[in-house]
Amino acid sequence: MSGDAPRRVDPFAPARLGPITLRNRVIKSATFEGVMPDALVTAELIDYHRRVAAGGVGMNTVAYVAVAPDGRTNHACLYMRDEAIPGLRKLTEAIHAEGAKASAQIGHAGPVADSKSNGVVGFTASRRFNPLSMRFTPAATEADLERVIDDFRRTALGCEEAGFDALEVHLGHNYLLSAFLSPALNDRTDRWGGPLEKRARLSREVLKAVREAVGGRLAITAKLNMIDAIPKGLEIEESLAVAKMIESDGTLDGLVLTGGSSFGNPMFLFRGDAPRSEFGAALSPLLRFGFKLVGRKFMPDTPFEEAYFEEHARRFKDALDLPVILLGGVNNRATIEKALDDGFGFVQMGRALLREPDLLLKMQRGEQSEGVCIHCNRCMPSIYSGTRCLLIDPDPIEAGPPVA
Ligand SMILES: Cc1cc2nc3c(=O)[nH]c(=O)nc-3n(C[C@H](O)[C@H](O)[C@H](O)COP(=O)(O)O)c2cc1C
Repeated sequence: MSGDAPRRVDPFAPARLGPITLRNRVIKSATFEGVMPDALVTAELIDYHRRVAAGGVGMNTVAYVAVAPDGRTNHACLYMRDEAIPGLRKLTEAIHAEGAKASAQIGHAGPVADSKSNGVVGFTASRRFNPLSMRFTPAATEADLERVIDDFRRTALGCEEAGFDALEVHLGHNYLLSAFLSPALNDRTDRWGGPLEKRARLSREVLKAVREAVGGRLAITAKLNMIDAIPKGLEIEESLAVAKMIESDGTLDGLVLTGGSSFGNPMFLFRGDAPRSEFGAALSPLLRFGFKLVGRKFMPDTPFEEAYFEEHARRFKDALDLPVILLGGVNNRATIEKALDDGFGFVQMGRALLREPDLLLKMQRGEQSEGVCIHCNRCMPSIYSGTRCLLIDPDPIEAGPPVA
């Protein structure tokens, strides 16, 4: 009978992720911090991460490190270059000083990149209009793709030099690699488009390059869309097949699962109340007018459920040997324990830790079993004025100069 007894995994015991050991099984998810006006680390960015690390997480994710200037979401987004490394080193040192490991989310924004703000035109799988920049993003050439694979390799090495312990390669939310995976966004007929094997090629090539660069020293994870939740988008049967291909490549130490599209269905990522008025207020007057017309359709209120991706993510966990990391609406200690007992390797938490950076410590001490975040999602548009919980801190964060 003992074989039937449920596994009991202590969320607060140390756990291995590839070549590194985390002090516990809770990872702060990537929540773009927005306090880097010069695309470099500031004291405010360090402060933000220090608070989360001091709050007890096993690992903290810095979001996000673009692999090239054209891979930024907008100009105020950090991208990897020599000049960025000393500041990033200070950032990882601050996280380490609080006992947590540091992960960098690395990615290329592809169709999400605002080329007008970036001052440089990027690329995506197939030519597409970007309403933020009011410009078309062109389809990537062979040379663009060769370059971007190398940019991922270079960024991985830069992150190692800056002292990061882990990387999270962004394969979600219809950023570049996710756009290549998506049948809705990739209608190429060359070796990068068409059947799934070809749509998955870019993600696999990138992960191979990252593995070759830092594998065995840094833990390598990826954040993969399970479903795009847009018309004709990626569905779970295909994403499961992608996950199996990636697992067989041996390029990953863990897989984080997500869904939705930053420009096509953002509320699918988050669930809860849609912060339409705050989001509209962050846009230029012209875009604000357009948003007034389509805002409710683009961003509907969506019921929030604890662990809302669990049902989908369980299919990946059951099909893969790779440690699978549960994300999406993890708010309670009971949810964390159940996920780990069920066989998820780790959990990630985002908004609950924006609201209470010390939630983990409070759970560990038995002072609190549930986060107090109400999923109003007003933190979402705060990415333009310093990412924070607006219920605690309504005022914009004035980011200072880059740290030397
Ligand atoms: C303010 C904010 C910024 C975010 N930025 C990113 C990002 O840069 N990259 C990413 O992959 N996900 C980003 N996310 C999504 C979170 O990582 C996470 O997937 C989502 O919030 C669901 O997890 P949660 O319910 O624990 O918050 C962001 C979320 C929020 C609230």
